[in-house]
Amino acid sequence: MPGHGLILAIESSCDETAAAIVQRGSQTLSSAVASQIATHARYGGVVPELASREHLRAIVPVVRAALEQAHVALSDLDAIAVTSGPGLAGALLVGITYAKALAYAQNLPLIAVNHLEGHIHAVLLNEREQQKALHGDEPQPDQQALALVVSGGHTHLYLARPTSGAWNYTLIGRTVDDAAGEAYDKVAKLLGLGYPGGPWIDALALHGNPRAVPFAFSQIKTKLHLGGKPPRTKAARTAPIANLDPRFLFSFSGIKTAVLRYVELHNLRPEAEARREALFTGPDAPAKPTLEDALATADPQTLDLIASFQYAVVGDLLRKTFAAQEALGATRILVTGGVAANRELRARFATEAARRNLHVAFPTISLSTDNAAMIAAAAWPRLLSGEFAPDSLSADPSLALGL
Ligand code: KG4
Ligand code: ZN
Repeated sequence: MPGHGLILAIESSCDETAAAIVQRGSQTLSSAVASQIATHARYGGVVPELASREHLRAIVPVVRAALEQAHVALSDLDAIAVTSGPGLAGALLVGITYAKALAYAQNLPLIAVNHLEGHIHAVLLNEREQQKALHGDEPQPDQQALALVVSGGHTHLYLARPTSGAWNYTLIGRTVDDAAGEAYDKVAKLLGLGYPGGPWIDALALHGNPRAVPFAFSQIKTKLHLGGKPPRTKAARTAPIANLDPRFLFSFSGIKTAVLRYVELHNLRPEAEARREALFTGPDAPAKPTLEDALATADPQTLDLIASFQYAVVGDLLRKTFAAQEALGATRILVTGGVAANRELRARFATEAARRNLHVAFPTISLSTDNAAMIAAAAWPRLLSGEFAPDSLSADPSLALGL
């Protein structure tokens, strides 16, 4: 049985180097994140080689910051947890190698965590913190939930069930091509906005008409055309798509192409280029462009296009998630991952859940995007059940959750 239940977690799967200390999976003592956005922004996306280099540079100070903020010494810890996949191989390896060395030097157990499981536990961690505030240390029973993990690399629906000791995940649906966050990032790029695109689109969508461009998502009618073929996605390896109910499959590559066609048809490309220059690449570009700067460069037609794109994406996520909820009879929905920071998504999911008298929960904004507190929270049941990583632990870029 662990002493104080203190886990130091390390997360380096993509473009954030993060370390956190969480006590008993229910109290965040610190959560430090070093973002690499500034490094990748000029390339319009994450450059894997640069990500590994930046992780190497950031990992020691980030771990030190997490320990200092928590007022915890290495000798107080009960375990080290680390993300072992899915993600960029070189980036994951930086965290794994460091976590292994630390665990070895401190004679602590090492716990491997799936990044997607981490995103789900971001919401569970928030819920436990809220329960703690209400009920004190009296542990509240975990309850099963339908979880939508929606980020730059993933759009996956899981049924998450607490079992004795650990959680168990069943994959219910997923994207067959791009992740929703990837569509946000690609659309933002083609409109001359910065990386990552989600926050720009989130903010600018408020100023456009969401019904101006009627983007449609066709239902993926048959799974036969996908049978046998690997999905065209960078996300985790999962169950064959042909085994999943087509009503719960997502596809976000079409809308990106539809936006591109709209831009070309309405000759919005010169506007996008001018915007990119005014905001990011030109000699008069501000050091750190703000929403006001972006608004000043945005024409009404582009604002309508942005609002309509977001309205369609959120609508599709909403329809399919609630269709799965209905089919499974789930009463709790968790929405997590970077795109779960989106304001329209939160508002529309909350309204629909209230209409159906269901519980819906999101992580706080800082726990929505990549962080290590969620990794420490997911590791806690493993520490209790003694499920530790072998010495041979390595990065698994397409690690699956819930086969
Ligand atoms: O979870 P995350 O930090 O990293 C991955 O595991 O992918 O998610 C990053 C993604 C990016 O695609 C970013 O554009 C998107 O989340 N994102 C948003 C918002 N904030 C971040 N998308 C929509 N609205 C937002 N407010
Ligand atoms: Zn993530």
